[in-house]
Amino acid sequence: MRMTETSDLWWKNAVIYCLDIETFFDADGDGIGDIAGLAERIDYLAELGVTCLWLMPFYPTPDRDDGYDVTDYYGVDARLGTHGDVVELIRTAKDRGIRVIADLLINHTSDQHPWFQQARQSKENPYRDYYVWRADPPPDTADQVVFPDKEDSIWELDEKTGEWYLHHFYKHQPDLNIANPRVRDEIWKTIGFWLELGLDGFRVDAVPYFLSDVGLTAEQRDVDDPHTYLRKMRAFLGRRHGDAILLGEVNLPHEEQRTYFGANGGDELHMMFDFIAMQNLYLSLAREDARPLTRALLERPAIPADCQWATFVRNHDELTLDKLSEDERAEVFAAFGPEKEMQVFGRGLKRRVPPMLEGDPRRVRMVYSLLFSLPGTPTLYYGEEIGMGEDLRAEGRMAVRTPMQWSAGAAGGFSTAVPGDLVSPVVEGGYGPAHVNAASQVRDPDSLWSFMRGLIQTYRSCPELGWGDFEVLDQPHRQVLAHRSTWRTASVVALHNLGPEPVTVPLTLDVPPDSALIDLLQDGTCQVGPDGAVELQLEGYGYRWLRVRHDGERRLP
Ligand code: NOJ
Repeated sequence: MRMTETSDLWWKNAVIYCLDIETFFDADGDGIGDIAGLAERIDYLAELGVTCLWLMPFYPTPDRDDGYDVTDYYGVDARLGTHGDVVELIRTAKDRGIRVIADLLINHTSDQHPWFQQARQSKENPYRDYYVWRADPPPDTADQVVFPDKEDSIWELDEKTGEWYLHHFYKHQPDLNIANPRVRDEIWKTIGFWLELGLDGFRVDAVPYFLSDVGLTAEQRDVDDPHTYLRKMRAFLGRRHGDAILLGEVNLPHEEQRTYFGANGGDELHMMFDFIAMQNLYLSLAREDARPLTRALLERPAIPADCQWATFVRNHDELTLDKLSEDERAEVFAAFGPEKEMQVFGRGLKRRVPPMLEGDPRRVRMVYSLLFSLPGTPTLYYGEEIGMGEDLRAEGRMAVRTPMQWSAGAAGGFSTAVPGDLVSPVVEGGYGPAHVNAASQVRDPDSLWSFMRGLIQTYRSCPELGWGDFEVLDQPHRQVLAHRSTWRTASVVALHNLGPEPVTVPLTLDVPPDSALIDLLQDGTCQVGPDGAVELQLEGYGYRWLRVRHDGERRLP
């Protein structure tokens, strides 16, 4: 293996961990998590094996979209800390071998942003063109809104100037006019600013939405096509910080997603979340049938060598099922969120993984084993490593944005503030801190946390998974996914049983004579027959990772 190459393209086999500072750890006891608190907990993340931290927005905000509504791209939300705290955090993380990326929110600002406050003063205001306006009444756009519970149009009338402004998301989030060179300058400066402070890249919010605005005013300006703009962004990033990444939120069918990696060997986004595989994974789990997931993985288009899929089973938003058919979505709802209060926006779930799987530890571990074995770079959402649950009393997506559960103590050890002062209530009941917390799991070798740490270590020692070619192995059980990732001379076979019954999986492997399979997650070795035939046992909801080893190979398992 060429070490230089693998360490350069660090995102190909990173372990990304997403968190919101305000719900992670409160160091000053005011009830709101803060940057200093997160810095204190970096060792916890290093111990788990995280290699890249993704910070959700920490910029000044009126907080009407949990910080995704920004009033100053260069600022730090005073409730969370200062620029000094950010720099200390990044320095501490880097010292422990953890890179830090953060949300880049350039589709829209808050309507409280000084630019928008100016823009709505008059049609002649110099900031007017920072946003997208139309003079004629808009058509019905109800089918284009992202939040159908709150909005029925992507255009909002601004009373004072009598024109409508574009907002793909909430009406308090006007879309920026990316075609405007002055806006572009602000974006370059924003990227440059945070890179100078030490960030290693960005999770780029709502990519197809802001790119769709690029052409809106084409006749007025010399604008690029959307992909030229993305290429310029990538080139700028690369000039400023050679190994920084753009990890895009692009929830589109695979073929469309492919174009956002760029045409020329990968010159646009470095990474994209694979929403399609995620949604089909839930369909597979609901059916106890690996075929939907298998199909989604096989349908993935080939991507440039420097690019990568980011895999995940939970994020900070609704667990969206929007790319499934109505019937498929209904199946997943029936299996994992049958009550109305468990669903949101008619397309997603408010729940976290363990409650959806009725707390069955075999099934939960199988899902994370599967996640880490899939081709791509796994992304965890805070609390997944200890199996946190959701708070269904909270509105919509807030159900999964509850305080991190550090201990069995008051407020789950998140804060010393009284409950009424907490940024959001702590989960109660069976998934509350008395039953689910980091302190007890870190000490317990049989806990989910210890399992995850082991899984992460093994994943990090298998560059085949992030780098290799993926193939699905033929075998007769529909509830089983058997796949193999091969990179240069190294190869890992992974088996996952989505069903509750034990199975014996016969495989025929294309391997050199006298090959053996070495179990990587538990003890065990089995010899492959002369014709490549081997039979492997799987428990109900069982999982195995096996490295192919053969005589003459110099690598250790
Ligand atoms: C995408 C983010 O993931 C989501 O949380 C946010 O509400 C929207 N962008 C709008 O800002």
